[in-house]
Order: sequence, then structure tokens, then C-alpha cells
Amino acid sequence: MGEKSAGRNFLKVAVFSLAVIGCYTIIASYYSPIETGVLQDELASPAGAPLPRESSRIGAVVYNGKGACALCHEGVGARAPRLDFVAREFSMRLKDPAYGGTAKDAEGYLYESMTNPSAYVVKGYGVAGSDDKVSPMPDVSKEPIGLTESEIRAVMEYLKVRAGVEPKIDKEHGI
Ligand code: HEC
Repeated sequence: MGEKSAGRNFLKVAVFSLAVIGCYTIIASYYSPIETGVLQDELASPAGAPLPRESSRIGAVVYNGKGACALCHEGVGARAPRLDFVAREFSMRLKDPAYGGTAKDAEGYLYESMTNPSAYVVKGYGVAGSDDKVSPMPDVSKEPIGLTESEIRAVMEYLKVRAGVEPKIDKEHGI
């Protein structure tokens, strides 16, 4: 093998290697759950939500992970109501005579639902025999879920983006 053809071979190998690395990078970026797939699926709001900000992206990760929300609230035959529009339709909850909480707006209702679930129990979802007075949902700020204040705020942002509600708590709560 002459020096020239060795050089050409090296070039071929180099180009081939780069092509392979390139392909893997593209494939990996499609399958990375945090960067693309899961988040984009979760954030695809039926109401055509605005582009999510950082906190709602974090909120989506918490929702599907540490928060365990998806375990109860998603899927066929879920044992909890869907949360697609709760950030928009919360006012129906506040008007219900059975409402026993103190929330005044979407943030208040979402926060209360997560930290004091029995303040309002969605009809038909209460603990059996409690006449829909006791929620089976745990206070997610307590163990074992134990979300921090900013994780709770991020989930609220996510639920708002999902419902197509303009996020505003970012500024107020510094996330
Ligand atoms: C163990 C199951 C379970 C987990 C985990 C859980 N929930 Fe729930 N959640 C429920 C059930 C059941 C209800 C309906 C009863 C009620 O109103 O409290 C509910 C109600 C709600 C409501 C009120 C819905 C409405 O239509 O008014 C919100 C908001 C909510 N959950 C948010 C969350 C979020 C966010 C998380 C994760 C941080 C979460 N939940 C984790 C079971 C769960």
C-alpha cells in the first residue's frame, strides 16, 4: 500500500466514523426522554399552549417523576381525574357548595389541591364510605412524595401551560 492510498484509507475511515457518530447523535436526541419525547408529549396542550418556560418544563419532569402525579392521574382507567384543564376550570370547583377550601384563583386551587387535597374532593373520587369528604390523594409536600415548594410551583406552572393558561407565577415566586 502506497503512502497515498494509506492516506485515502485514513480519510475514508475518518469520514465513516464521523458519519456514524453523527447518526448516533441524531438518534440519541430523538430518544432522550428529558430533552425531547416525554416532555414534548406531555406539554403538547390540546388548547395550543404557548411555548413552555423553564419552570413548566421542570414541572413536567416532576409531574411524571418524583411527584407521582402521572401514576394516578394518567392512563386508561386512572383512579384520579384528568388534569388537562383543571387550571382553567377550577372556578367550577370554587362555586360548588361542597367546596371547603380558601382558594380564590387558579394558583390557589392548584396549590390547595396538592397540599390539602380534602379541601375539595371531586365527586366520585373520595375514599370509599367518606361521602366524597376525604381525598385518597396524599399531601404531596409531605413524605413519601415530599415535593419542595419550588417543585410544587413548577408543577402548577406546568398544569397552567397544559391548560393553555398564561403563566404568571414565574415572576411572583422567582422560578
Ligand atoms: C395516589 C394517587 C394520587 C397521586 C399520587 C396524586 N393525585 Fe391528585 N388526585 C387524586 C385523586 C383520587 C383526586 C380526586 C379527589 C380529590 O379531589 O382530591 C385528585 C385530585 C387532584 C386535583 C384536583 C382535580 C380537580 O379536577 O379539581 C389536582 C389539581 C391534583 N390532584 C393534582 C395532583 C398533582 C399535581 C399530583 C402530583 C404532584 C397529584 N395530584 C398526585 C389522586 C392522586
